[in-house]
Amino acid sequence: MDRPFIYLDNAATSFPKPEAVLKAVDHALRVVGGSPGRSGHRLAINADKIIFEARENICRLLGIADSSRLIFTSGATESLNLAIKGILESGDHVVISSMEHSSVTRPLHSLSQKAVEVTKVKCDKKGLLAPDDITKAIKKNTRLIVLTHASNVTGTIQPVCEVGKIARERGITFLVDACQTAGVFPIDLESIPVDMLAASGHKGLLGPQGTGILYIRPGINLSPLKEGGTGRGPSDDKQPEALPDRFEAGTMNTPGIAGLGAAAAFLLEQTVEAVRQKEMLLYKQLLEGLIAIEGVTTYGSSDPGKKVSLLSFNIEGLDPSLVSFRLDEEFDILSRSGLHCAPDAHKTVGTFPEGAVRLSPGFYNIPGDIDKTIAAIHRIAKER
Ligand SMILES: Cc1ncc(COP(=O)(O)O)c(C=O)c1O
Repeated sequence: MDRPFIYLDNAATSFPKPEAVLKAVDHALRVVGGSPGRSGHRLAINADKIIFEARENICRLLGIADSSRLIFTSGATESLNLAIKGILESGDHVVISSMEHSSVTRPLHSLSQKAVEVTKVKCDKKGLLAPDDITKAIKKNTRLIVLTHASNVTGTIQPVCEVGKIARERGITFLVDACQTAGVFPIDLESIPVDMLAASGHKGLLGPQGTGILYIRPGINLSPLKEGGTGRGPSDDKQPEALPDRFEAGTMNTPGIAGLGAAAAFLLEQTVEAVRQKEMLLYKQLLEGLIAIEGVTTYGSSDPGKKVSLLSFNIEGLDPSLVSFRLDEEFDILSRSGLHCAPDAHKTVGTFPEGAVRLSPGFYNIPGDIDKTIAAIHRIAKER
């Protein structure tokens, strides 16, 4: 479908969604309608099937053997809150990087008021973490390490396998924020040393907003963030122990999860490798175009192998919010400016407090979109 704009904000939420996602949401609302795991009638059973299939599809996509370990949430923010608040207790120490999103730093800030100790390990100017610095930050009471798989400011992919190994050797739980990688970068949880993985359902996973996931490896014990009805389980007041029910109290977001399940099926068919290849061609085109423009500074690793399809930049002497506004108003190009809910990351790369303009090409962008964007930025930079 022809649109009167170019959407380059897929790191915030992907748009458009595959047709199959729209159809699945419509079907869940229009035809299915029942409450999953509750009543025994046909509509409730059909809703249950939708949730089951979505869980299975996502597990296949991420290499998860036991689908009961995959929890549906309202988004990565809830997933990260559940993982962080569910494991840490007073007196515990947690190590994070300086590239983390507010969904990690804010829950930790509130826990720091309850005697949880937080160490932020500084990354280099490109936003890359040195695994040795994690080792140096570990203390006797370190219970958790949290690392973003790829920064939502620089797109730099972090050395999660190395950090996971460090954590595993010391019996420390390792939580990965995969918001910017799930669906666009191959992840196989069977083979990588990650204990918990959180992601939004509405970014690279191509599902609807209001969906998210948390994978919890066997042996990791969490307290639930919310307690309540699960439809199944014991008939007393205790929250069930069995997963996924333990962490999925309340009527589930069946339409959203239906869409997310269809999105996962779409990605399984396309393959994540092919999605990455396609997006990285657009990213390279964008990077090459922007670095050739006088006055433009780009941030993050210059090695495309260490990046996801996301590029933050500034034009010398221009406020990023003004650049983003002009791209929208004059050129119909949709970007995101500011601090991207990650002020520490901007401090790390030297763009705090004004931030940067972020462009994030996605599955449905075409090379022509990137040509037009480069030309628009060239014009804005020339008119300074
Ligand atoms: C790296 C990262 N972590 C966490 C989040 C929060 O995700 P959600 O808005 O789905 O809760 C985002 C979203 O922008 C993100 O980019």
